[in-house]
Amino acid sequence: MNLLAIMGSPRKGKATDSLVDKAIDGVKSHLPDCSVNKINLIEHEIKFCRNCLACRDSKTNEPVAKCSIRDDMDDIKEDVLNSDILIFGTPVHMGYATAVMMTFLERICWTFAKPERTVLTIKGCPLPRSDKTRKAIIIVTSGIVPPMYRKFCDWATDQIKGVVKDSLNGNIVGDMYAGDIEHRGVEHYFNKAFNLGKKLV
Ligand SMILES: Cc1cc2nc3c(=O)[nH]c(=O)nc-3n(C[C@H](O)[C@H](O)[C@H](O)COP(=O)(O)O)c2cc1C
Repeated sequence: MNLLAIMGSPRKGKATDSLVDKAIDGVKSHLPDCSVNKINLIEHEIKFCRNCLACRDSKTNEPVAKCSIRDDMDDIKEDVLNSDILIFGTPVHMGYATAVMMTFLERICWTFAKPERTVLTIKGCPLPRSDKTRKAIIIVTSGIVPPMYRKFCDWATDQIKGVVKDSLNGNIVGDMYAGDIEHRGVEHYFNKAFNLGKKLV
């Protein structure tokens, strides 16, 4: 079983990073032999999607279409392909996933999906290129907005959910919003993240 954790905070060792680690501990508590690969996106060269549409319009039958950009996403896409379970972590920056997480998600969007789903009357929506399913969890942190006001501060969870479902054929088994970290402290959410990780098993 291969666990891939995608960490989208620009700060290593801080709130999001530590909750992702707790979730990994939760997975390991049930699956000690699980192989763990954690990617701190900020440490990688991930260029912006340029909307060339080479990936979207590719007719390949491979699970991932080729991107015209050469950078660390070449290797990261292999890691995603090889993964069986996924953890996503991001702080909210102005209510949304961080720029580094969004850059990653944009690069995943049409490389892992083809434009063959019809939603309502809209043709050309993303359909995963592969039938392989992956369980996923999402961890979102915020500085000052407490959980009771999550709906005013967390659009990041839905941003990630969209790509996980529509491009990665993912099955989201849980998510958490660790709000008001500045006052509550991240430790307040350690158990929740640990238990969320266990849901992946
Ligand atoms: C540009 C920017 C925008 C932010 N926007 C929000 C926000 O809208 N609401 C909020 O509660 N915290 C906001 N924060 C605070 C972060 O969400 C908070 O510090 C988070 O816990 C950081 O996670 P980290 O420790 O993993 O980096 C923002 C921080 C930055 C740098």
